Amino acid sequence: MSDPQPQRVIPLHDHRPLALALPKSAFQADQRLTAQGLLADLRGRALHDLRISVTDRCNFRCNYCMPKEIFDGNYAYLPHSALLSFEEITRLTRQFVAHGVQKIRLTGGEPLLRKHLERLVAQLATLRTPEGQPLDLTLTTNGALLARKAQALKDAGLQRVTVSLDALDDAVFRSMNDVDFPVADVLAGIDAARAAGLGPIKINMVVKRGTNEQQILPMARHFRGSGMVLRFIEYMDVGATNGWRMNQVLPSAEVIRLLQTELPLVPLAPSQPGETAQRWGYAGADGRFDPALGEVGVISSVTQAFCGSCNRARLSTEGQLYLCLFADKGYDLRSLLRGDASDADLSNTIGHIWQGRRDNYSEQRQALGPDTGPPVKRIEMSYIGG
Ligand code: GTP
Ligand code: 5AD
Ligand code: SF4
Ligand code: SF4
Repeated sequence: MSDPQPQRVIPLHDHRPLALALPKSAFQADQRLTAQGLLADLRGRALHDLRISVTDRCNFRCNYCMPKEIFDGNYAYLPHSALLSFEEITRLTRQFVAHGVQKIRLTGGEPLLRKHLERLVAQLATLRTPEGQPLDLTLTTNGALLARKAQALKDAGLQRVTVSLDALDDAVFRSMNDVDFPVADVLAGIDAARAAGLGPIKINMVVKRGTNEQQILPMARHFRGSGMVLRFIEYMDVGATNGWRMNQVLPSAEVIRLLQTELPLVPLAPSQPGETAQRWGYAGADGRFDPALGEVGVISSVTQAFCGSCNRARLSTEGQLYLCLFADKGYDLRSLLRGDASDADLSNTIGHIWQGRRDNYSEQRQALGPDTGPPVKRIEMSYIGG
């Protein structure tokens, strides 16, 4: 019999598709309808998080995100002129904050590759919510440049970092980042972030069945009691280049079962609405949560979709607004920024777009059944940001 595995198909399409039409009623003088302040989308979800991608480049080639055979020397990354400037990002972010955004996450690609990123952090750190509160300002990084940059980021006003780390074993880690990057350097970056006070630090581990599942227990042992929160992420069908298959997903329920064989856990309540992770606390000898041992999280977007409370908007490197991690098109806010739009026009546009939002991709995929592959078109995570 022939190999039952489907052939991996690499779609020949530009990963930066045409933009969606902007809602003209937001900014055309004769049609203007205002959409200001706190607004719900079509599923009743408020806007709370803004994830901003500051570069589409990365110094790693994790196979599940930027496979080497696609993201090679010939890959057409965005030219510098296409990227939003720090001033443009800050101007837009101010409008998002007026619509309820309280948390900003800088992502990429690898955000620390963007030159002078601390200058953007310093600008964003000046923003305040309508109630006068500073934003929760954080960043997701692969940690490679963190040892060098942690202090400057902290000084600029960054509050905390999340570091992606898929293995502690050096050989497994080098093969997963696919650029032979040593794990010791990421651990040094984490130490530097901790020393700079960029906490509470979260560690994100994407679990791929058959690749790094044997690293689950060593990672848990390493981070238990460290004050850092390790989160296990189900390998997602995001993007169109990673050849995702359901049998490579290790469901979070299995991760928890495995941890419990050695490290007893108790469920914890969510700490914020719309949280991506389900929290579990390490139990002490009395069987109750022991805060000194800390907690772990599982992010189960494949087996237990959390679209129902999804309060996240995403701004791509070139200023397109995406309403879902799995969207294939965004709204071109850069054209407004670089046109003659006023702040009120920008704010109305964002408000209208959010009010028309209906996205719930992970729920739909779950409803279709476990063997459903990704649709043909899909934006890459390195472009839109995790
Ligand atoms: P914290 O406030 O630090 O808990 O951040 P977070 O969990 O919102 O952000 P983080 O970037 O750490 O998210 C962790 C992982 O969850 C990402 O790398 C994605 O794999 C996944 N994720 C985050 N947001 C979404 C989302 O909106 N949809 C889906 N399907 N997955 C998401
Ligand atoms: N599935 C799950 N998580 C992913 N990430 C990137 N690609 C995937 C995927 N296919 C995560 C990385 C990192 C963040 C930027 O996104 O681990 O934590
Ligand atoms: Fe780079 Fe993060 Fe993607 Fe890995 S997962 S290739 S570190 S952006
Ligand atoms: Fe939100 Fe889309 Fe993720 Fe669902 S799949 S949680 S709608 S980003």
